[in-house]
Amino acid sequence: MDTRENILVTEDEMIKQDAFLQMVAEKNPDANKKYIINTFGCQMNENDSEKLSGMLEAMGYMRTQTIEEADLILYNTCCVRENAELKVYGHLGSLKALKNRKPGLIIAVSGCMMQQKDVVDVITKKYRHVDLVFGTHNLYKFPELLYMTLNSEKPVAVVSDSDGYIAEGMPIKRDHGVKAWTTIMYGCNNFCSYCIVPYVRGRERSRKLSDIINEARVLGHQGYKEITLLGQNVNSYGLDLKDGSNFALLLRSLEDLEGIERIRFMTSHPKDLTDELILAMKECKKVCEHLHLPIQAGSNRILSEMNRRYTREQYFQLVDRIRSQIPEISLTTDIITGYPGETEEDFAQTLDLIEKVRFDYVYTFLYSKRTGTPAAKRQDQIPEDVKKKRFGALLELQDSIGRQINEELAGKSVEILVEGISKNSFSMMTGRTRTNKIVNFKGKTDLTGQLVNVIIDNTGTWSLEGTLVH
Ligand code: 5AD
Ligand code: SF4
Repeated sequence: MDTRENILVTEDEMIKQDAFLQMVAEKNPDANKKYIINTFGCQMNENDSEKLSGMLEAMGYMRTQTIEEADLILYNTCCVRENAELKVYGHLGSLKALKNRKPGLIIAVSGCMMQQKDVVDVITKKYRHVDLVFGTHNLYKFPELLYMTLNSEKPVAVVSDSDGYIAEGMPIKRDHGVKAWTTIMYGCNNFCSYCIVPYVRGRERSRKLSDIINEARVLGHQGYKEITLLGQNVNSYGLDLKDGSNFALLLRSLEDLEGIERIRFMTSHPKDLTDELILAMKECKKVCEHLHLPIQAGSNRILSEMNRRYTREQYFQLVDRIRSQIPEISLTTDIITGYPGETEEDFAQTLDLIEKVRFDYVYTFLYSKRTGTPAAKRQDQIPEDVKKKRFGALLELQDSIGRQINEELAGKSVEILVEGISKNSFSMMTGRTRTNKIVNFKGKTDLTGQLVNVIIDNTGTWSLEGTLVH
């Protein structure tokens, strides 16, 4: 039975996890153990890692940046593309020698990859130096699982084939002091034919509107200035709650929170982007003028085979509707090159769509065969060199479009939220425009967390440079 009651983790279960958390902390009274988390994949995984860090710090572990120093090494994995999986196997293999030198070391692996039974089998059989394996559905049980691991000679592996639960009130250690991520829903119902996510993350489950608002209110009081609402398809947020909640209502409900200056969200499936939502984006002053709207391919034949449930014409109309309501909106998208059966003609349609829409940025991916998805069974897989050639052509076209769009900002004044010192140039501060463009400028570090105006002097494809307006 799939009712809300058995989706929410009970208060008793959370109290139990808190007890395990205390028990692990008691084993480590000096709080001198060190941990490192290596995160792969999307922002939802980053947000999960922040929760894992929060739990570890509550259990007396301190973060370190060096693997050799760590008493606990955790890989939070992604399985959307094969590359990310191969990297994890590579890392795990290289840890064997370290584990031999340091037997007390705990090696743990979590995340989407661990929701696949065959992967867990490989890890438990071939990587015997791994101590703990758990999937995304068991995240909230980490204190209990770590306690079991610390008290057992044998590896602990838990895979859950249920849809997973929603756990509220977990400790969290956020990576950033100015902007925060909030996962508003878990799972996906869309079953795009290439994508593994619905199989590993389960069906859509939304957090209660009041829980999200409370979290955002606390973030505002803690000094966070920007919130990004996360979900595989935020446009269908709340529909499973059947209490009238929806994404437009959520945006409107967050509008008056004290301290929060900017609200962002991702990802939006084009088939579910309603006029009601466009209006809410337009009317909510804190909602930033940026929309990530994955198209995936430009040919109607491929879109249909991908089970995306829109045509290129419908996508064009949607972009027109958004731009007519919010003219300054910046648009970004995801595109896959080399989907099975993609012909040169299909690909030419993708290039044509990119030229017509003129996205601010395009995230391009080589199609990756994911076992268990319908597309993986197809016989007409595209050779790697063809996928790569198309990938290159797409990048080249988009680079010139992105550069031209950014050039139009030269000499203009933009409002940016200062995030801190630039990672690429320590003499510069960095921040983002409401349209999500990175702007570097010379300024004092105490501007971090403030909204400032900057006049754009130099523009590039990736980032902009400007002068602070005093
Ligand atoms: N191969 C390549 N890219 C993929 N994505 C999802 N599944 C695959 C796959 N099998 C891309 C889609 C999605 C983004 C998060 O990852 O473009 O929007
Ligand atoms: Fe994957 Fe499609 Fe769901 Fe996005 S909407 S997570 S691409 S199945």
